[in-house]
Amino acid sequence: MSVANHLRLRDLLAVLADSDRDFVVIGSSALAIQGWDVRPSDLDLIVSPDEVPRICDLLGIKEAHGVWAQDGEAQRVEFETKWGPMDLYLGVSGDLTYELVARDAVAVVVGPDELAVKVGSLAHVRDMRAAVGRTPVPADAVRPAEKIGAMRVIAIDGPAGAGKSTVTRAVARTLGFTYLDTGAMYRSVTLAVLDEQADTDDMERIAEIANSIEIDFEGETVKVGGRDVTAMIRSPEVTKATPHIAAYPEVRSAMVKRQRHLFEHGGYVAEGRDTGTVVAPEAPLKVFLTATPEERAKRRSLETGEPKEDVLAAIEERDRLDSVRELSALKAAEDAVVLDTTGRSIDDVVAEIVDLARDRGIV
Ligand code: C5P
Repeated sequence: MSVANHLRLRDLLAVLADSDRDFVVIGSSALAIQGWDVRPSDLDLIVSPDEVPRICDLLGIKEAHGVWAQDGEAQRVEFETKWGPMDLYLGVSGDLTYELVARDAVAVVVGPDELAVKVGSLAHVRDMRAAVGRTPVPADAVRPAEKIGAMRVIAIDGPAGAGKSTVTRAVARTLGFTYLDTGAMYRSVTLAVLDEQADTDDMERIAEIANSIEIDFEGETVKVGGRDVTAMIRSPEVTKATPHIAAYPEVRSAMVKRQRHLFEHGGYVAEGRDTGTVVAPEAPLKVFLTATPEERAKRRSLETGEPKEDVLAAIEERDRLDSVRELSALKAAEDAVVLDTTGRSIDDVVAEIVDLARDRGIV
């Protein structure tokens, strides 16, 4: 975020803090809060017409100095302020009611006891700008993802059976990103350990395997040392043994290193347990998918044909092992968007994540 935007918003808030009115700030300021670099000349306030003199007074500008314009469906007054140009939108019509804006846009709510800033969706800002005949985002705005060094990774974590694989694949397909199944990497190490009948408590040997194993992804196919293991890594034996193997610090550091290496090139949607917390905490979008254990067991049982009760017991045991381990325990990152997929369709969840990715300027 540019310093100018920071200062502008802060100055504005300081001024508004003396007021006992509610204001709604939309437009580029919403983008700025979401990490976009936007010219500071594009700050918009939606107000009712009878607020104008008061706001002018508040901001130290003379109403007579405003330039009035009809802008799409709204009336607009442009002012030059000491913070740069600012627009007041009046009489916004159509679906864009004040109530909707207050709920969904960046709302700066100023009251006697509170000063709260709520970040709304970019989709809303786009609608808002479109309704007044502007381009969806200012032409010279810089997306967070285009900033030097910005990571283009979407991390989708969560427990077994929450719908991660299906959702992550679909999000990757929709955005044209590469899908990465980090679970398949831990499963591959486990398969190699079981294949050579290594002692699952032999930490040294397991570390050697993790450090030397060749894992390749070719579309939906997973290869270990050139051999197609896609089906084998999903066997009940491998599934059951993986949490134990995945808990070894050496195994984790070897896999995390590989994942970070892949992410350097960007354009990944990755599913796992610790992608948002450990592997890529700087990912611009982290999602934690959950569902009730019953729902997760139901989905798995439909997939594999195993009885639901057995699946439920296995899932609960795997969650327990994944959650209690010391390293990279299964948990949502503090800034993750937690989505409960119980009773929701895949399409619906995918659409929400794709919208979030767009809102954050990742695509
Ligand atoms: O996601 P999936 O069910 O394929 O993962 C299999 C197992 O791999 C998990 O139960 C967990 O023990 C381990 N895993 C992990 N960290 C990840 C992904 C999977 O520990 N990032």
